[in-house]
Amino acid sequence: MEPIEQVVAMPRIGDKAPEFKAVTTQGEINFPNDYKDKWIILFSHPADFTPVCTSEFMTFAKMEPEFTALNCQLVGLSIDGLYSHIAWLRTIQEKIEFKGMKNIEVKFPLIEDISMEVAKKYGMIQPGESSTKAVRAVFFIDPKGMIRAIIYYPLSMGRNFDELKRALIAMQTADTFGIATPADWRPGDDVIVPTAGSCGVAKERMENKDDITCSDWFFCTKPLPLEKVKTK
Ligand code: BEZ
Repeated sequence: MEPIEQVVAMPRIGDKAPEFKAVTTQGEINFPNDYKDKWIILFSHPADFTPVCTSEFMTFAKMEPEFTALNCQLVGLSIDGLYSHIAWLRTIQEKIEFKGMKNIEVKFPLIEDISMEVAKKYGMIQPGESSTKAVRAVFFIDPKGMIRAIIYYPLSMGRNFDELKRALIAMQTADTFGIATPADWRPGDDVIVPTAGSCGVAKERMENKDDITCSDWFFCTKPLPLEKVKTK
């Protein structure tokens, strides 16, 4: 008889971020409660001492001050032990050069997850890809501890960190201004005004009043100048 595969419910957008306690390279953490009132990017990587992961950690570590300025805590995870994590981060700092970066110190916590407890809780193990390594998952968690966005990448593909920063800024901007952001939005571009919820508002919108421009009642944009958007 085939073994019965355990089905693990994966957290979804709009769910409360599953809680856990873990050992990390920066001491023990109580997740997400230690990061109250902050955004969190929780991300997994397949393994320590692998090249794609190394390039990702160097990039994230270099950009960490930019995420801190956006009130965002970075937290990494892989199914490796603490001593492997420490040895890998030391090697990165001492030996690895990538795209002009060198002597890079990773200061954000990296979770040890030998038991796969956290990886399973967050659906980071995708058996079709690997049953022993976490895929490259990225969870954006807001200051209320809610999951706001999830991005998954396969083992072979390094993440685009400009996109992760853009996604964070887009969500923060949507929350601050009650707008949505269109395709390929960048800070300074026009934003989407929420669709009219009544015939009266739809009619008003078509009068193209104030700074709102509508191609049709449901497709309205307005400027949101760069200086009003928090980007750093
Ligand atoms: C890497 O990070 O280089 C990597 C990890 C697992 C599979 C393939 C590549």
